[in-house]
Amino acid sequence: MVERSSTWEEAYRSVKSLWELEPDHALREYATLVPDGTVLDLGVGDGRNALFFAEMGYEVEGVDISQTAVERCVERAKKANLKVKAEVRDLKEVDIPQGKYSLIIAAWVLNFFKKTEAEEIIKRIRNGLKKDGFVYIGVFSINDPSYERATKSLEVVEECTFFSHYFTKEEVLSLFAGLKVIYCAEGMELNLGHGDPHYHGFIEYMGQMRISD
Ligand SMILES: C[S@@+](CC[C@H](N)C(=O)[O-])C[C@H]1O[C@@H](n2cnc3c(N)ncnc32)[C@H](O)[C@@H]1O
Repeated sequence: MVERSSTWEEAYRSVKSLWELEPDHALREYATLVPDGTVLDLGVGDGRNALFFAEMGYEVEGVDISQTAVERCVERAKKANLKVKAEVRDLKEVDIPQGKYSLIIAAWVLNFFKKTEAEEIIKRIRNGLKKDGFVYIGVFSINDPSYERATKSLEVVEECTFFSHYFTKEEVLSLFAGLKVIYCAEGMELNLGHGDPHYHGFIEYMGQMRISD
């Protein structure tokens, strides 16, 4: 698979803000259910979700492969008088401490791995949750228009993996089997937040580790 770290770095350097600044709506909707403690944002970007939880009083940690994204996240937090501990790390190598987190967020990042790599990261996410901890995942689905294009022009690296991996709802639910489903939605959305208007096929999932697990 093509090395992506420099691509993300270039993307962040090319514009002041790559994404919308609002948190993902499912996170906003269910935030009050998340137990006190620490939130980890994997692929934190410039921090829209991380800052939202810092503002709610959680300890927040974030990692991202782009130095510029991490710097922007920390800067935005400082300006808002909030604290987010963000570091430059590749998710393939991030060690997630067992049972530490009240919430782990992986928003719109797991597509950028092969299927087997994403599965490995998800195993670490599950392991990192507190007994009553939550996970939030946002991924692009096989209904994304770029999936159809990829099937015609790109080499298949693994099942549903070309340059990116595209998920199905069944796949997401089975990767989080055993967790209580708090929210799960799939659909198509017109994105006006970055670049030219375009559609994305998406799946959003929020689950909670059961206390009895
Ligand atoms: C589509 S953006 C989403 C950013 C943020 N989660 C949000 O929702 O606003 C994907 C993010 O994942 C980061 N990323 C991509 N590959 C990564 C990797 N291997 N390790 C860590 N971060 C990565 C990118 O730098 C980028 O910030």
